[in-house]
Amino acid sequence: MCGIVGYIGEKDCFPILIKGLRRLEYRGYDSAGVAVFDGESTINILKKKGKVEDLLAFVGKDIPPGSTGIGHTRWATHGPPSDVNAHPHTARFGRLAMIHNGIIENYESLRTSLETNGHAFVSDTDTEVLIHLIDEVQNRTNASLSDAVQMALKEVEGAYAIALVDASEPDMLIAARKSSPLVIGVGEENEFYVASDATPIIEHTQNVIYLDDEEVAVMHRKKGLIIKNLQNTVITPEVHALEMQIEAIEKGGFQHFMLKEIFEQPNSILDSIRGRVSVSRSEINMSGIDAHWDKWNAAQRIIIIACGTSWHAGMIAEYLFEDFARIPVEVEYASEFRYRNPIIRSNDVVIAISQSGETADTLAAIKLAKDQGAHLFGVCNVVGSSIARETDSGAYTHAGPEIGVASTKAFTAQVTVLTLIALLVGKKKGLLSTQRFSRLLVELKAIPDKVQKLLEQDARIKEIAGHFVKSENALYLGRGVNFPVALEGALKLKEISYIHAEGYPSAEMKHGPIALIDEEMPVFFIATADDVYEKIVSNIQEVKARGGRLVALVSAGNQELKQLAEFVIEVPKTDQALAPLLTVVPLQLLSYHIAVMRDCNVDQPRNLAKSVTVE
Ligand code: F6R
Repeated sequence: MCGIVGYIGEKDCFPILIKGLRRLEYRGYDSAGVAVFDGESTINILKKKGKVEDLLAFVGKDIPPGSTGIGHTRWATHGPPSDVNAHPHTARFGRLAMIHNGIIENYESLRTSLETNGHAFVSDTDTEVLIHLIDEVQNRTNASLSDAVQMALKEVEGAYAIALVDASEPDMLIAARKSSPLVIGVGEENEFYVASDATPIIEHTQNVIYLDDEEVAVMHRKKGLIIKNLQNTVITPEVHALEMQIEAIEKGGFQHFMLKEIFEQPNSILDSIRGRVSVSRSEINMSGIDAHWDKWNAAQRIIIIACGTSWHAGMIAEYLFEDFARIPVEVEYASEFRYRNPIIRSNDVVIAISQSGETADTLAAIKLAKDQGAHLFGVCNVVGSSIARETDSGAYTHAGPEIGVASTKAFTAQVTVLTLIALLVGKKKGLLSTQRFSRLLVELKAIPDKVQKLLEQDARIKEIAGHFVKSENALYLGRGVNFPVALEGALKLKEISYIHAEGYPSAEMKHGPIALIDEEMPVFFIATADDVYEKIVSNIQEVKARGGRLVALVSAGNQELKQLAEFVIEVPKTDQALAPLLTVVPLQLLSYHIAVMRDCNVDQPRNLAKSVTVE
């Protein structure tokens, strides 16, 4: 939620900031703005409701000069999207400017006390309160700006990643973070970049520093970088080399990032498996499991915490862990878990699943479980993210950067990694026969090629999508491991096409949702060959009898459902435990094409943002 970018060095910063904002726009896109310091006396603030393109149109040819600046793309929390609520916000009559990602929870009381001291506010935002607080602290204490930032942040409750410039400090850019991500790029001598993630930095430098919670970084054009925590201890930064490639964050000829990412799945699934599986030796190696085997071996229960699509991956994992490793599993919405006074024991293993690694609810749930002594295992896509760092151990999904707001390749990578973990734990506990284990490994290795086969059906799936462009509602039904896929199919459709959609276990249909079925209602059945196939056929008959419009995902060669369904999509055969890695793909494509045909912005759906760093 919200993207922040900053630069200090010798180059003109406006183009750097704009390019950075374009890369970060997936994090929020209801307004955009920059503050560029001209190096002498003026900080030029330019901000506009709308997207980065609207900001550019507003700026026109009057590009502000300067080589120190900050930029922001917003996902509104406090106050509606508007020019005035757009960042940067200022204090000291425009001589102090700041951008912020996160939420200041005690902003109301801070605002009231600042107003009593004569501060006036023009926006509804918590950010404006924070920059005035910094100004107030500096006035009150006569401290340096960086000390004032440290002191002010001690008064703040909530989450922040901030960057600020001061007209009286021409060579300085300050950044700080707590519970919202922030990366510093180290460029040429005394040249620094700041951003919410590495995507605006990658084309300038490979060297990055991940700021930790409650750290303040002072980047100085002459004196270099100094990082201190809020207790004023100097921190020696660890410089990491980025492994990301620039092509991974560009569209590469696809109309949308989402389509590109759907089509990347044969490779991203392979990348999740790469280096971890040896079919010839019938082996899975995952250092995060091996190094803490005592915890996994002793686990009486696995608790999975996640949100949204990642929660659906967790639901699939529940079936797999219970089947392969015979460990009871609870799958929890992180947002519910953290406020429920949950029972957590020291012999629980808690798996946190998150693409971004920054989801506020998941992070808070992790802290709660950690405080109560559970072993925390992270399944994250973003390397160096907060969740990856907060957990005791983990496994990266290696799906590569996911820019489309609707998660696709990150989901299949999560399911792949969770499948590997469940198989490995099952095998190490001696609960999976060598034969079954080896067969599943062979099947897993074959999945990328099978996904490729599915993608080759894209034109036909698009044609099917064309029949549902005007639908107002849709139902997705599946059973077993394909029930979470039904939930995921429904989520994909609603979030990018704004069609109301629900996912259910198909047998639950008769307990209520069947009342919705009429000739207008599309019903997407996942009916691949498995133990409950016959039962699903009965459910399909029930929908048919009531005139619903049937689309069935079936295993290749199935003839029976061709007679019953209006449309059939054939899915390559695989072991039923691995079916979600295939069945989700046509559902992703259907949602994508329906949304595009409805003229929706699939990469930036309304009201959403990629990384949900607020509660
Ligand atoms: C849906 C989607 C969201 C995320 C959810 C959790 O397409 O992307 O539902 O899955 O916000 O995000 P992460 O996985 O980053 O914790």
